Parts: sequence; structure tokens; C-alpha cells
Amino acid sequence: MTYGERPRTGVEATHTIDLRSDTVTRPGPEMRRVMAEAEVDDDVLGHDPTVLRLEQTTAALLGKEAALFVPSGTMANQVALHAQTGRGDEVFLHAQAHVVFYEQGGAAVLSGLQLRTFDSADGTLDPEAMEEYVHHADDIHFAPTRIVCLEDTHNHCGGLVYPLEKIHAVRAFCDRHGLLLHLDGARIWNAAAAGGGTLAEIAAPFDTVSVCLSKGLGAPVGSLVLGDAAFAERALRARKLFGGGMRQAGVIAAAGLYALEHHVERVADDHRRARALAERLARVPGLAIDLAKVQTNMVYAGTKGTGLPARELVRLLEEAGVLTLDESPWSVRLVTHIDVDDADVEEAGEVVAAVVEQAATAR
Ligand SMILES: Cc1ncc(COP(=O)(O)O)c(C=O)c1O
Repeated sequence: MTYGERPRTGVEATHTIDLRSDTVTRPGPEMRRVMAEAEVDDDVLGHDPTVLRLEQTTAALLGKEAALFVPSGTMANQVALHAQTGRGDEVFLHAQAHVVFYEQGGAAVLSGLQLRTFDSADGTLDPEAMEEYVHHADDIHFAPTRIVCLEDTHNHCGGLVYPLEKIHAVRAFCDRHGLLLHLDGARIWNAAAAGGGTLAEIAAPFDTVSVCLSKGLGAPVGSLVLGDAAFAERALRARKLFGGGMRQAGVIAAAGLYALEHHVERVADDHRRARALAERLARVPGLAIDLAKVQTNMVYAGTKGTGLPARELVRLLEEAGVLTLDESPWSVRLVTHIDVDDADVEEAGEVVAAVVEQAATAR
């Protein structure tokens, strides 16, 4: 079965509503037009004018000296880590950060780094808890701590915004210990729209920041990694090493520029829709929704109370035309984005309610 085709069941959405991720969006006609018309050259040689414009625009928006266009958020994070560390260094990060959870151990494989994780329910790091684990190269027993990595918004913790004062507390911790600070800001746009500070305010405490154009902003591909000019030179080498040099990349950079111009403010609509969906799902018997954790475009629904393992609910919903993802054995994730509107979200809520109810009466 391909997405878009559905077998008929008792409960049906009128059309497929895809809430798996904000990465599933398709470029609209205007975005495709600017891609087709993009001025291009060889970006590995540093001459693609559209890529250069995207890099300069993003750097200005975040208040950083330089930005480098890369194919993915994963590469943006890995390039930043590679450029900022040496083999055997240690990275502090949250236990469910994308870098440690979803990047295949890339920090170890590509850069020889040791990751030390700290857990919390909201994705933040507690400087006091990290204090005793900071090590320097003068003791031969330890991997020297080199960099702290934060994530805003925090994907696996439910799209939570990292409060600005807590970012500043981690910055102060880094300054006390001579450590660097990196932000996985794949969804920095969502953080800003949800009151986490302006883009420049969020980026300011960090030495390096990665951002994605292909999530809430709706571009088909592309991320950037930002920092000062010296970092950008090291990052350029790392990007080539990792195979991320792209030739006439202006075609995709044009989509990113269009997204920055037209789609940054509208992510607030995704947040409003996620909240409406969460409030509807909170009324479904058996589903557990923590409304305080619905701060941006993600809704996590605990399924234990329905008796349906997440994978089973995802399957039933798919049959009914609503696509979701199982994030853990008892948790389903639903994400709003540019390709779903108010009516889609309302309909999806009703379909989820009906599917859960039908499963309960069938038992
Ligand atoms: C927080 C976060 N960082 C990084 C990434 C990686 O982005 P990509 O899929 O473009 O490699 C993702 C992807 O979902 C993400 O959620």
C-alpha cells in the first residue's frame, strides 16, 4: 500500500492526513518556481550565488558571522561537533537529544567523541548535575570535556521550548569551565514562535548553531550550521570530508530562501493546530495527553490506557487514513505542519477518537 491509497474500514478520513512529521511537506508551486529559476554555479568551489545568499541571509537572521549550507540536520550537527573537537574529547548532552538518539552514533564513528548524557523530563540540562563530571586533559584518566550540546525545541521530549534563562545558565557553566556550546536548532523557528526568544536571542549564547529548512519551514531539503568565521573554515573542511559538498546547490537553496521569507511566521499556525488537536485527543478515553507539554507543533499521546500498543494504534490509524508515528512502545506522535490545515486537524482528531473507541468496543 502506498500513502494516499487506503483499504476501507469502519472509520475513514475523507483523504489521507499525514501527521507523521513536519518533514513530510511538499514544496508548493511558488517554491518550485523559485527553485526552477534559481541562479546556480559550483558551490564546492564556493561560487553558487543562491547558496551564498542563503548563507548570508541565515547568518544575519541569527546574528552569527557565518553560515554553511549542508544537506541535513544530522550533517549540520556532526560537522559542528567535528569542527569544534578533537578525537577522544567528551560531549555533554541530553539523554534523548537527536545527536545521541537518532544519529547512529555519528559523533563516535565520525569524530571519535565520547558522549556523556544527562536526563530530564523537559530536555534541559542542569548545570549543577553536570558540574562533577567536567574533566580536563591534565588528568590522564579522563576524556577531556570539550562541548555541551542543547536542543531547542526538543524533539523527543515533545517539541518543548528551552527557556532562555536556562540556556544562559548553561552558557555560564560553559564559561566557568572553558567549554564550547552548540545548539541543535533544527526547530529554532518553532522555539522563537512559541516565546523562546527571538532567533538572534536564542542563537546568541551559542558558539555554533544548526538549523533546518526542511522541517517547520517546509523546504524539501537543507540545513545550515552557523558560527564565527574561523569555525566556518573548519566546518567547510568537515562538510567536504563527510561528503556534503554539493555542486549546483542553488536549486535547493532557493527553496530555503523562499521558506525563510514566507514560512517563518506561519509556524505559529502549526502550534495553534497542535494545541487544538491535543485538546481534542485529551477527551478521548484512555489516551494520555500532557497539555502542558504541547508547546509547539508536536502532540504525544500515551496509549497505555487504551490497551493499544503504539504500533497497533499507528496501524489502525493508517487504515483509517491518518498517518502518525510510534515514538516508543506506548506513545504515538502527531505533528502539525504546512501541509495540514484547520479542517485536516479537526478531522484527524475525530478519526483518532473513533478508532480508539472502535478498538475498545471490539475487545
Ligand atoms: C532535533 C533534530 N535535530 C536534527 C535532526 C536531523 O535532521 P535531518 O533529518 O535533516 O538529518 C532532526 C530530524 O528530525 C531533529 O528532529
